[in-house]
Amino acid sequence: MAEAVTPVEWTDEGVRLIDQRALPTREVYVVARTVEEVARAIVEMVVRGAPAIGIAAAMGVALAARNGARGSALEAAVALLRGTRPTAVNLFWALDRMQRVAAAGEPDSALPGRLLEEAQRIWSEDREMCLAMGEHGAPLLPMGARVLTHCNAGGLATAGWGTALGVIRSAHRQGRVAHVYADETRPFMQGARLTAWELLQARIPVSVICDNMAAHLMKLGRIDAVLVGTDRVAANGDIANKIGTYGVALCAHAHGIPFYVVGPSSTVDLACAHGDAIPIEERAAREVTHVGETRLVPEGVPVENPAFDVTPARLVTALITEKGVLRAPYGPALARAFGTSSGPQA
Ligand code: MRU
Repeated sequence: MAEAVTPVEWTDEGVRLIDQRALPTREVYVVARTVEEVARAIVEMVVRGAPAIGIAAAMGVALAARNGARGSALEAAVALLRGTRPTAVNLFWALDRMQRVAAAGEPDSALPGRLLEEAQRIWSEDREMCLAMGEHGAPLLPMGARVLTHCNAGGLATAGWGTALGVIRSAHRQGRVAHVYADETRPFMQGARLTAWELLQARIPVSVICDNMAAHLMKLGRIDAVLVGTDRVAANGDIANKIGTYGVALCAHAHGIPFYVVGPSSTVDLACAHGDAIPIEERAAREVTHVGETRLVPEGVPVENPAFDVTPARLVTALITEKGVLRAPYGPALARAFGTSSGPQA
């Protein structure tokens, strides 16, 4: 994993995060010392990406306990974290795990240690799941493939290595990836800023394209496969991912290009029957009206900013998980791989 970044990490001072808002121009690390600081870092996208926010939230609970929270104060810390971002189910999955530990009846003095162990387990399991998805997914790509990805589903969005970028990294080692096209991913620019930065570091050839160029490249025959991450997989195989993913999936379908979705079990929500039940985060208008300090949209003109969209299962060629590659019909395939679940408490 040498060349992958570690975006979230426990240290003696607190939770150390690479500030993803500053990339690619500045590589700045911040330390969140309280649960409130962790919650703010998630809301403001210092840390982002479905698995990474789950890990950060788990560490936030451990931090609250280390800072003395017990009982209702610990519950309040968990509630604060639950309210940060609604779409990625990894957040709720991780917090459920932390709450189970908190409810296990540990003596007060042992609780911080037990919660920290659990948070660190969530972190290390995520790294292992990413590597396993890389191994399962890489053989799906032909040698020398030109792949398109949307948003950032890389090391920055996980404990390291990445989901979609993890498959790309593993496939690149096998000579299967000749070039990556990264959609810039308006409005937060995760593709232009983060995916391009990560792939440059990993020495994987990458070009950034504007989101509206993908269909054109597909029509010209310059894309062999699409690989994206996901924030929530519903029980029927519908998937939520960064806004724009649905459009990419439709284009891929129209051009007969495989559309692969990469996500670990922490992203699967069997309690969510279909994609329409996935809550879609609406973010601040300013992300659309401005780039940095520069206003793009006339004052007084309203904008919309849904941060995610849902791609229906029928457009997904395969789901790459740590348990293997799942194919349609996804309902039975997901139930076989991940069993029934009462699901996380959103
Ligand atoms: O709003 P973000 O940047 O947190 O959205 C991230 C994505 O949509 C990723 O594609 C998704 O979390 C999968 S990451 C492994």
